[in-house]
Amino acid sequence: MKILFIGDIVGSPGRNMVQEYLPKLKEKYRPNLTIVNGENAASGKGITEKIYKQFLEWGAQVVTMGNHTWDKREIYDFIDDAKNMIRPANFPENNPGKGIIYVNINGIEVAVMNLQGRTFLPPSDDPFTKADQLIEEAKKRTNIIFIDFHGEATSEKQALGWYVDGRASAVVGTHTHTQTADERILPGGTAYISDVGMTGPYDGILGVEKEAVIQRFLTSMPVRFEITKKGRSQLNGFFVTIDDKSGKATKVERILINDDHPFIY
Ligand SMILES: [Fe+2]
Ligand SMILES: [Fe+2]
Repeated sequence: MKILFIGDIVGSPGRNMVQEYLPKLKEKYRPNLTIVNGENAASGKGITEKIYKQFLEWGAQVVTMGNHTWDKREIYDFIDDAKNMIRPANFPENNPGKGIIYVNINGIEVAVMNLQGRTFLPPSDDPFTKADQLIEEAKKRTNIIFIDFHGEATSEKQALGWYVDGRASAVVGTHTHTQTADERILPGGTAYISDVGMTGPYDGILGVEKEAVIQRFLTSMPVRFEITKKGRSQLNGFFVTIDDKSGKATKVERILINDDHPFIY
C-alpha cells in the first residue's frame, strides 16, 4: 500500500500547488491512496464544500482537518454528508462529523484517523486513549492504519508516535506549517514524521503576510492576518509504503517542493 499525504493546504496558493503538482506526484509515486489536510484551505481558516469537492476531483480520497475545522460556518451543513472528510476524533463526542474513515483500495481496507494534540491547543479529549480505542476498533478490519496527528508540540507528537509504534502503520504530524526533517520508521514498524509542513505561500510566515506577523511581534497589538497571495508557493508532503499484510511501513520519503528544492521526477 502506497500512501501520499499533503500537509496543511493554505488558501488559494496552497490549492493551486495541489492542482498543479498532484498529477505529477501521482505519476512519480503511484500512490494507492492520497490524503490531504484541508483545515486551512479556505483563505487559511477552515474549508468550504466547494473546496472539499475540488480536492476529491483533483485526486484526493481523504481530507483531514484540525483546530480550524469549524472556522467556516457552512461546514455544519455539509460535514455529515462529506463521506471522505474526517476531523479530529478526540473532539467532544456529540460534535458533527467523524474522526475515522475506512477506505477500500481494490479490496484492501485502510483506516485513516485524525487526532488533535492538547499542548498549546484548545481543550479536547485525550488523544492517546482515543488512539487506543480507534486502533482496537480498526484492527478488527485491517492492519493498515494511518494517523494524522494535528499538534503543536513536537514532544507530544513524538510521544504518540512511540506510543502506537507497532500498532499503527504511520503517524504524520500536521499543524505547525513547518516541515521537520525527522522522518523515519520506528522499530515496531510505524512510519513517523513530527510535521509534514504546509502547502501554500513560501515567502510568508506560516502562510500569513510576514509584515503583519512581524508587526504583531514588534507591538504585541492585535493585527489582521491575511494569507500571502503574492509571491512564491511551496508543497510539503510525505510518502509511505506499507506492507499490506503486516501493516508495517517499509519505506518513507519526505516531499518538499519549492524554489530552493525543485520537483524532480
Ligand atoms: Fe494548519
Ligand atoms: Fe492547525
